[in-house]
Amino acid sequence: MAMRLWQVRRHWDSFARKDPFWAVLTTAGKEANQWKIEEFFASGQSEVDAALAAIQARLPGLGRSRALDFGCGMGRITQALARHFDRVAGIDISADMLAHARRHNRHGDRVDYQHNAVAHLGRFADGAFDLIFSVITLQHMAPEYSRRYLAEFMRICAPGGAVYFQLPAGTVRAARRSWYPPTIAKNIWRRINAFLALHPAMEMNSLPRAEVEAIIRAAGGEIVWVDDSHGAGTAFESCIYLARRA
Ligand SMILES: C[S@@+](CC[C@H](N)C(=O)[O-])C[C@H]1O[C@@H](n2cnc3c(N)ncnc32)[C@H](O)[C@@H]1O
Repeated sequence: MAMRLWQVRRHWDSFARKDPFWAVLTTAGKEANQWKIEEFFASGQSEVDAALAAIQARLPGLGRSRALDFGCGMGRITQALARHFDRVAGIDISADMLAHARRHNRHGDRVDYQHNAVAHLGRFADGAFDLIFSVITLQHMAPEYSRRYLAEFMRICAPGGAVYFQLPAGTVRAARRSWYPPTIAKNIWRRINAFLALHPAMEMNSLPRAEVEAIIRAAGGEIVWVDDSHGAGTAFESCIYLARRA
C-alpha cells in the first residue's frame, strides 16, 4: 500500500538524520556518509548545467528571474540553479533535509528554502516561476500525489517559462523494499513503522509517459521534449520531460 504524505515526510526526516547525502544520491560506495560535500554539490552543478543547455536549445527565451526546485533535499540542485537564476526557492517535505540545505546554502537570501508537506503548491501564485525543476523526487511518492504536483507545476509556470522533471515511466525496483504479508500482526507493525520510521522505506513509483503527457496537456501545458534514455539499463529507467505553458 502506498505511503500517505505524512508517512513520506517521516521517512525522509529519518533518512535526513541518518545519512542524508546517501539518501539523496544512492551511489554505491557512498553509504555511511562517504560523500564528499564538494563532490556531492558538484554533481548538482553538472546536472543543472546540462539540463539548462538542453532547455535553452529548445526554449531560447527562457527568463532567468525565478526558479523552483521541487523536492530540493539538501539543496544539491537548488544551489546550482542559483548560479543561473536571480532567486531560487527550494521546497521539501522533510524539515530535517531542509535544515541540512540551509546549512549548505552559499547564496544568502537569493535562495529560500521552504517546508511544504501538503499535496499542492498553493503557497505559490500562478505564473510565479520561469523554471520549475524536479529530479529524483516525484518517483518517491504515490501517483495520486505526483499527478497533483505535475498539474501544479503548470499552474505556477510563467508564460514563456519551462517545467523540467524526471519520472520513471515503466516498472521500478524499490531502492529499499519492504514486504508486508496481509496478516493483522504485520499490518500493525507496518503502521507502527510508518509512524516511527524505524525502518524507513524509499518508495519508488512510476507514471506511464502517455499519462504524464495527458496531465501536462490538461493543466494547460505543452510537451516540448522528452528524453526517454535517462538511466537506460539501470533500475531507474526514466523519462526527462520538458514542458511549457501552451
Ligand atoms: C532523492 S531526494 C532528491 C533531492 C534533490 N532533488 C536532488 O536531486 O538532490 C528526494 C527528496 O524529495 C523529497 N520529497 C519527497 N516527497 C516530497 C513531496 N511530496 N514534496 C516535497 N518534497 C518531497 C524528500 O524529502 C527528499 O529530500
